[in-house]
Amino acid sequence: MFPKEVYAERRQKLKNELNSGIALFMANHEAAFNYPANTYHYRQDSHFSYFFGLNHPGFAGIIDFESGKEILFGDDVEIDDIIWMGPQPSVKDQAEQVGITETNAFAKLESYIKKAREAGRSIHYLPPYRGAMMIAIGRLLNLPAHEVKSNASLSLIKAVVKLKEIKSALEIAEIEKAVDIAWLMHTTAMKMAKPGIIEQEIAGTIEGIALAHGGPVSFPVILSVDGQTLHNHSHHNRLEAGRMLVVDAGTETQTLYSSDITRTIPVGGKFSSRQKEIYEIVLKANMDSIAAIRPDVEYREMHLIAARTIAEGLKNLGLMKGDVNDAVAAGAHALFFPHGLGHMMGMDVHDLEGLGENHVGYDEETKRSSQFGTAYLRLGKKLKPGFVLTDEPGIYFIPALIDKFRTEGLFKDFVNYEKVEQYKDFGGIRIEDDILVTEDGYRILGKPIPKTVDEVEETAAQQREWLKIPGVF
Ligand code: GLY
Ligand code: MN
Ligand code: MN
Repeated sequence: MFPKEVYAERRQKLKNELNSGIALFMANHEAAFNYPANTYHYRQDSHFSYFFGLNHPGFAGIIDFESGKEILFGDDVEIDDIIWMGPQPSVKDQAEQVGITETNAFAKLESYIKKAREAGRSIHYLPPYRGAMMIAIGRLLNLPAHEVKSNASLSLIKAVVKLKEIKSALEIAEIEKAVDIAWLMHTTAMKMAKPGIIEQEIAGTIEGIALAHGGPVSFPVILSVDGQTLHNHSHHNRLEAGRMLVVDAGTETQTLYSSDITRTIPVGGKFSSRQKEIYEIVLKANMDSIAAIRPDVEYREMHLIAARTIAEGLKNLGLMKGDVNDAVAAGAHALFFPHGLGHMMGMDVHDLEGLGENHVGYDEETKRSSQFGTAYLRLGKKLKPGFVLTDEPGIYFIPALIDKFRTEGLFKDFVNYEKVEQYKDFGGIRIEDDILVTEDGYRILGKPIPKTVDEVEETAAQQREWLKIPGVF
């Protein structure tokens, strides 16, 4: 947890943004895994945690934009809870840790909200993403559960995006801790990626590294030699020489800040010349687009820089043809790079996305493209100092997409389908880093993770040893 002043200041900044009604922030409930008493690892709602700091269930926080009051609703534990969970600080003490003086029993929340509604006050809340929360908020506001999300407060959404998209030095330090742990996860995967090993052995080991540093992983580990499937969560393949292993994985710190890193490793640790050719293009796309990051430029420009680097590189290999700028303008590169360059990152690995992708990634000035490929870019708007984002270009040979485009006669002037057919067994390559936008450019966050061909080969040749990232606990 951060010092209480941090949470008080965040709430004050939110009060500066809205001037009427009250905001309701609900702590997440426990979520059942396979029966009610067997729950998933508890994950607090990121917005509740941002403003109220307490990463436990059973709380609701209120901010009154007219009176300025802040109230924490929650219950002290009773002897039954103490038997199972051990002694817990009182709600008063917990509230004090995050700078709040007024507390109330959780059961009083309902009458508090009812009174506010009867007085005609606006109850601002953020769109919930769990069914149980839709039901809970619906009960408080007398709305059917399926209407809760669409009635969320646009002014609160915009205010929360405005505050949370700019990361403070404290937050950046937390994200760097998460990247440092990801360094250990990824270098370990490089050393383990030998022929004969099952993907699951590597996936389980790197998830274990996250957990051993306080974890959990920030999203389910993506790890597969079938890297042409962008988010491949199945890990059943046995590694064979000649394949490339895509590893997209990160962790969360105990304050809930994430990392999100991708590296692609040749099984056995040595790139073939064909693998190296494609890898060098993705690496150049990653580095060219990172080098262009600075405030006041649209991130869509960086996406297009990566797209042009990919088209140029594939043209040099004879897989694409024609004018590179025309190919990218037509969207032909998206046959190989069918996703966006990156997204915001913070307490959620796709930070703030739950508030609406367009509210965080786009604005009045920058509207989302409708073109296949660029349409999937999650962050397109102008960058500001303090943004933390990912840069994650890739080249994929997706047989079904190649067949579809070819059958439909798409991009015949830009794609050399005869040659592309020869790459249908290649898989995919993605390289992803976490970047801070600074006053005059950018900074790649955390301990540098091997990325060039030489660095990856050198790391893959090393013996695996158990290491611990200092300064995490
Ligand atoms: N880890 C999912 C992504 O890179 O967006
Ligand atoms: Mn990722
Ligand atoms: Mn990502």
